[in-house]
Amino acid sequence: HPHCKIGPSILCSDLSRLADECQRMMDSGADYLHLDVMDGHFVPNLTFGHPIVKCLRPKLPDAYFDMHMMVSNPEKWVENMADAGANQYTFHMEATQDVPTLCRKIKEAGMRVGVALKPGTPVETILPYSDLFDVVLIMTVEPGFGGQSFMQDMMSKVQLLRTKFPSMDIEVDGGVSPSTIDACAEAGANMIVSGTAVTGAQDPAHVIKCLRSAVEN
Ligand code: DX5
Ligand code: ZN
Repeated sequence: HPHCKIGPSILCSDLSRLADECQRMMDSGADYLHLDVMDGHFVPNLTFGHPIVKCLRPKLPDAYFDMHMMVSNPEKWVENMADAGANQYTFHMEATQDVPTLCRKIKEAGMRVGVALKPGTPVETILPYSDLFDVVLIMTVEPGFGGQSFMQDMMSKVQLLRTKFPSMDIEVDGGVSPSTIDACAEAGANMIVSGTAVTGAQDPAHVIKCLRSAVEN
């Protein structure tokens, strides 16, 4: 299946030093940065939005910004995020009524299209639209907070997608660490988000290496 990529989530790092933390992850071998946007409505927490992403972009001119949009009305921020320098716009399936229009809008803005599924949302809901997505993000925790435990039973969603779509980018997010990565790798995930396990580690480069070798083997 497709190339394996490791994308640290900076949600639980020192956000007063956001650019430095992102740079530290890139220097530790990250392939991309997973940036968690929360609106206090779709999820019971708040983080940041496009104004901060726009300030971050010139500090990390070459990093791939994967925007995980945990927001209601994801339609609303597409142009703002593209203008801020986002590379991938992942909306939640549960947050939109019109998947094709939203996907078209994201593509026209020049970003890769991602769709995310909360743990309670069946994977079958995306099947009618599968050719509209570049990435499917399978949540392995309830979205809203870092540092929760990995939901192993979400791996059946990954497996089903990998069987149906051998070359699709399948991303996992939530509780992914060196002790849960094998299940993700076995199921066929190739874009690996890891927050606290990487940003909280003494040696983030070692953890990233560890995650990568589990998926590449
Ligand atoms: C949860 C976020 C995740 C989370 C990952 O709502 O979408 O990206 O920050 O952090 P860990 O790996 O600590 O679960
Ligand atoms: Zn996320």
